[in-house]
Amino acid sequence: MPNTMKHIKNKIETIFFQKFGTHEIMIFAPGRANIIGEHTDYNNGFVLPFAISQGVFLFASKNNTNIFNIYAADTNEFTSFNLDAAYIFNYGWEKYFHQSLLALNVNGFAGINLVFGGNLPIGAGISSSSAITSGFIVLLNALFNLGMDAATMVDKASEAEVGSGVRGGIMDQFTIINSVQNNAILLDCRDNSFQYIELHLEDNNFFLINTNVKHSLVHTDYNNRRAECEKAVGLISRDYKNIGSLRDLSLSDLPSISLFLEDKLFNRVSFVVEENNRVLLAVKALKENQYTKLGALLNESHDGLSHKYDVSCEELDWLVKYTLDYEIILGSRMMGGGFGGCTINLIKGYPDKNWIAKLNNDYFERFGLYPTIIPIQSSNGILNFK
Ligand code: GLA
Repeated sequence: MPNTMKHIKNKIETIFFQKFGTHEIMIFAPGRANIIGEHTDYNNGFVLPFAISQGVFLFASKNNTNIFNIYAADTNEFTSFNLDAAYIFNYGWEKYFHQSLLALNVNGFAGINLVFGGNLPIGAGISSSSAITSGFIVLLNALFNLGMDAATMVDKASEAEVGSGVRGGIMDQFTIINSVQNNAILLDCRDNSFQYIELHLEDNNFFLINTNVKHSLVHTDYNNRRAECEKAVGLISRDYKNIGSLRDLSLSDLPSISLFLEDKLFNRVSFVVEENNRVLLAVKALKENQYTKLGALLNESHDGLSHKYDVSCEELDWLVKYTLDYEIILGSRMMGGGFGGCTINLIKGYPDKNWIAKLNNDYFERFGLYPTIIPIQSSNGILNFK
C-alpha cells in the first residue's frame, strides 16, 4: 500500500478508536479507472477498467443496538438512523448507506458504528460513490455472515447505486470488488464473464487530470443516454428480431441501421458499437505492447464520447486537445460518466514539471480554476486487498 494510503488508514482507524473504541472490521474500497469502454456497460458491452490505489477505508463494529451510527471523517459529518429511516431518506452521502441496506433487503442486521474516509475526489468520475456502496456491502456481508458471493455483492452494490438515482451499469462495482493489482479487467457486461489482462506498460503510465468541474450524474443526462439507447434498441428490434441490446450489433450493421434512425439516435448507437469494438482492439494492443495504437484508441473514444454520445464538456475537450499537443502523451479521453470529472491519459514516462505548470496556468486563464493531476497505479479490489 502506498504511504499516503497507510497514513489515511491510520487516521481513520484513530478516529474510529476515539469515537467508538476497537473496530471489528476494516475494508478498503478502491476507486476505479477505465482504460476504455465508456457507456457500454449498461448496453451489455465490454469495458476495460482497473482499481486504483486511491480509495475509501471503512472501519466498523457492531454496537448491539438497532442504530447505525456513521461518521464521514473527511467532511466531519455524522448520521445516525435506524433501519426504518433507511427507507425514507435519499440525500447526500447518507443515501449510499441507506440504499445499500435497502438493496440487501434482509433482516437480521443489528446496528453498527462506522467511520469512513479516504482520498477519492467526489464527482470526478472515479467512483467515489460506488466505493462506498461496494465497501459497505462487503463489510456487512463479512460482519453479519450474510453468505453472499462476489457476484451477488456486485449486483447489490449496483442496485444501491441505481436506488440513489443513477441508472448505471456494473463496471464500477465489479472493478472495485474484483480487481487484481497489475491487471485490468476485460468485463463482458452481457453475461459478466471476465478476464484479467496484465497491465505491463513498460515505461508508459496512466494518469488522470481532474477538470474540477463537479458533476452529479443524477442531475445530468446520464439517465437520458441510457433511455436513448433503450429507445434505439426498441426501434431496431422491429426489423432485427435478434437484437436485445446494442451489444448485439456489429460495425457492419451500422450502414443499414442509419437508414431508419434519426441522426441523434444513430450517433448514440454507432458510438456504442464502435466503442465495444475499440475495447477489444485495446486489449489486443495491450497484449502486443502497441502503446501508440492504444493511445490512438483512447483518442478515438474521446472523439465519439464528445461528438456522437455528447457526454463531454468544454473543460474535458479542452484538456484532451491540450494534452495531445504534448508529444509524450500517447492518448487522452474523458473517463467515467462524463459532463465533468477526469481525463485519463496514457503517457510515455511522466509529465514534466514545466509542462504541468504551464497546463495549470493556461487552464486557469481559460476557466478560472485549476485542474488536478492525479497519478494512478493499479490496485487490488476489496476482496483481494491484503
Ligand atoms: C458511471 C457508471 C458506470 C458507467 C460509466 C460510463 O461511472 O456508474 O456504470 O456507465 O459511468 O462508462
